[in-house]
Amino acid sequence: MSNLTHSSAWRALAEHRDSIARTSIRELFARNRERVKRFSQEAAGVYVDYSRNLITDDTLALLTALARQAGVEERRRAMFAGERINVTEDRPVLHVALRERAGTPILVDGEDVVPKVSAVLARMRRFTDAVREGAWRGYTGRAITDVVNIGIGGSDLGPRMVCEALKPYGSKALTMHFVSNVDGADIAEVLQAADPETTLFVISSKTFTTRETLLNAHTARAWFLGSDAAEPAIAKHFVAVSTNADAVTAFGIDPGNMFEFWDWVGGRYSLWSAIGLPIALYVGMDAFETLLAGAHAMDRHFAEAPLEQNLPALLALIGIWHTNFFGAASHLIAPYDRYLHRLPAYLQQLDMESNGKSVTLCGERVDYATGPVIWGEPGTNGQHAFFQLLHQGSALIPADFIACMQPQHALDTHHKVLLANCFAQTEALMNGSHAPDAPHRSFDGNRPTNTICLEKLDPASLGALLALYEHKVFVQGVIWNINSFDQWGVELGKRLAVTIEDEIARPEPVSAHDSSTNGLINRFKARRNVHAESTD
Ligand code: F6P
Repeated sequence: MSNLTHSSAWRALAEHRDSIARTSIRELFARNRERVKRFSQEAAGVYVDYSRNLITDDTLALLTALARQAGVEERRRAMFAGERINVTEDRPVLHVALRERAGTPILVDGEDVVPKVSAVLARMRRFTDAVREGAWRGYTGRAITDVVNIGIGGSDLGPRMVCEALKPYGSKALTMHFVSNVDGADIAEVLQAADPETTLFVISSKTFTTRETLLNAHTARAWFLGSDAAEPAIAKHFVAVSTNADAVTAFGIDPGNMFEFWDWVGGRYSLWSAIGLPIALYVGMDAFETLLAGAHAMDRHFAEAPLEQNLPALLALIGIWHTNFFGAASHLIAPYDRYLHRLPAYLQQLDMESNGKSVTLCGERVDYATGPVIWGEPGTNGQHAFFQLLHQGSALIPADFIACMQPQHALDTHHKVLLANCFAQTEALMNGSHAPDAPHRSFDGNRPTNTICLEKLDPASLGALLALYEHKVFVQGVIWNINSFDQWGVELGKRLAVTIEDEIARPEPVSAHDSSTNGLINRFKARRNVHAESTD
């Protein structure tokens, strides 16, 4: 047994689970007509109703005791203080410093990083203003009309999701494109419609070594130089966002066209850094800084509120309740807002790359479940696809429903219907309905949900919403005693791909792998040859 599952707080929760499992969320509502008042809260403009979970005052007292026992408050302080809490990479974790706009010093190795952050933001402002105002021109003197961000993982998902979410605030003069996949179809689709005279490429990579990004960037560069453009024109059409100035220079981008960030910003926490350059190009620097301010407001709430009233901590603890005491293996994100359609994909990386770990900070294998599978689709589409399983399937799937009170359009009836569906689903999931003569028509109910409400999806509320999830993930990682800030699990596949790439390039068949891998590689090589001969 691990220290965690052996701890008094954990065992008390297991006992409590056995007693509360005999009741239902519906009964808890019947017992207390004011229940929602007790189990809902607003912070940084985000209202969360977490009353539709199988929790009582006792549950929350036990869960917050678990958080305290696990050292959540101490680790929260350590993160904000710039301590090296990413121990396997020996780095601080300071995405919160990127949103520290009050100028309060945050020290890394004795140096205040806030002025560095401000300096990059000022450069971003000069550059994005110039592009948006048409002062930054392409090599033939035409204004930029298209921006292509080339990046993957954290260098894609955040900026792409935010640009989609803030479309109503976006420039009408700029079309944004995001190329991430090494599948050539991704970049080919963008390049076939692009005009080299008016296209700006943003090459985004923290390391500037990621195979997918560099290959796509080289393809874009070759395409660009294959037009009438000569080498010096690259300076007008290629900028980079990275921590690796040497690799950026080696690629052929002038370091003067590089926007810097730092190794204390994790890839999946980096949209707040210069990785947010496409966002700033699209919505303008004022809106980008408002996004930062929204996140900062949630940071202050997370840093200052006691755990009992701390929204990220409460969502984390309720998630732990489901994952570790009720066996929930996945968590649904259901945004009832079309503009948030990339949010589930973004949260997949945030949560699953952070907490998809099974070794503790002490190097021991865990004997409890850690990060769940995160998945989702916007409502109401999901209702007509997979919600059947939520209502009547055998798996327990807790869900976050996200609703905006004000729409971004004038179609009021649509918005009423949309939110009516959102509220109806959570009611149905909780209450169920009993059809004594038709078991196939019975709904057990008792399916837990949170409903997260924004007044309107705007830069400030989006920033706060994303920071809410970041800190939720942090708290869960602390309780599970894992490092939420490394991602060693992605390395093995990357290494093997390099070997196989080399083997595919050679003429002889391979035999060094297992028979399945050999077979697939050799089949691909043979089929490529047949195809090459037939097209000769
Ligand atoms: O392979 C995973 C990963 O390292 C992510 O953590 C990261 O966001 C992504 O690749 C892209 O990395 P980079 O920004 O260095 O190209």
